[in-house]
Amino acid sequence: MTNSELIKQLFLSFSNKDNESFELVARKYIERAKRKKHNIVAKDLEKALYGTKNISSSQKRFKNNMPIPRDTEKGFPLLEIQHFDKNFDHLIISKETKEQLEQVIREFKDSDILATYNLEYKKKILLCGKPGTGKTFSAQIMSSVLNMPLIYIRFDAIISSYLGETAGNLRKVFDFIEHGTWIVLFDEFDIIGKNRDDNHEHGEIKRVVNNFLQMLDNVKGDSIILAATNHQNILDPAIWRRFDDVVYYNLPDEKSRCQLFEIYLKPIKRDKDIDIVKFSQITQGLSPADIKMITEEAMKFAIINSRSSISMNCIEIAVNKFIRREKVRNNKVGEDNG
Ligand SMILES: Nc1ncnc2c1ncn2[C@@H]1O[C@H](COP(=O)(O)OP(=O)(O)OP(=O)(O)O)[C@@H](O)[C@H]1O
Ligand SMILES: [Mg+2]
Repeated sequence: MTNSELIKQLFLSFSNKDNESFELVARKYIERAKRKKHNIVAKDLEKALYGTKNISSSQKRFKNNMPIPRDTEKGFPLLEIQHFDKNFDHLIISKETKEQLEQVIREFKDSDILATYNLEYKKKILLCGKPGTGKTFSAQIMSSVLNMPLIYIRFDAIISSYLGETAGNLRKVFDFIEHGTWIVLFDEFDIIGKNRDDNHEHGEIKRVVNNFLQMLDNVKGDSIILAATNHQNILDPAIWRRFDDVVYYNLPDEKSRCQLFEIYLKPIKRDKDIDIVKFSQITQGLSPADIKMITEEAMKFAIINSRSSISMNCIEIAVNKFIRREKVRNNKVGEDNG
């Protein structure tokens, strides 16, 4: 979003008397100024928005000067701080899933009110479902919408270090998290699933997971902690219990696949006879990420062939290429003439 679009949004929130949206957009603007190292401007704006009284709490919320924790042995960073500018418009998920995510956001925004009733907002959420259905994407959107940076942690990166170091790595990550307010994503949590056939490894992983769960139980601070997996079926009950909510991502139905084709083909002009419904019919079982890949392939095909608009043929070629690729992946190539 450009600066002038942000300012337009700010004006709109004002004229709609929508204080919540006004604050969100204003925060976005301030965070942007900070990223550009316009610190004096950011500070002034922050003062104007919150007054001096609340400035320290607002800063506490968004600031953390601790160095990024690193793996002791190999020195690689254990997490990444990421910033996004995304919204729910391009996330095609079922109504139920969307409502669940919105509920998480609303509870977080109203956490003070909930607290007066001794209730806590949903803090630890498990995102699960097939690959490429929007789990990581959702974390990025939540980070944008709530205007809190995303702390991205690849669970397997923490584990792949030397034995015995894992617990230390996890501790460092949690220490960091507790010193700020973030959307935290433990991504690729499925390491727990991948190693289940290897008994020795599995025992080790189990210890790591238990360790993780203990830290998760005791985590302090006001962050929202997400863990994403596509092996939810083998997670043991101890894990399920630890999460305040479990959000499940379905593969898209035909109508959703149609919407995905529409969204992802938006950047290019189309021939008049383009039949999106046909493509959504023949892509049953594919994920949103698969459809994104197909549309990108089709657009590139049109562009490098100097077409002024995309044709049915371009998309057909991309779909067939993708289906063939899937057959190779599943060792089915050569079983028919496709
Ligand atoms: N539901 C969706 N609606 C629209 N686009 C989507 C959706 N899901 C995925 N995408 C697109 O595909 C990309 C990859 O998806 P994402 O990384 O969120 O998948 P994932 O569920 O985290 O998969 P994995 O389990 O493999 O990590 C996204 O950045 C987005 O562009
Ligand atoms: Mg992911």
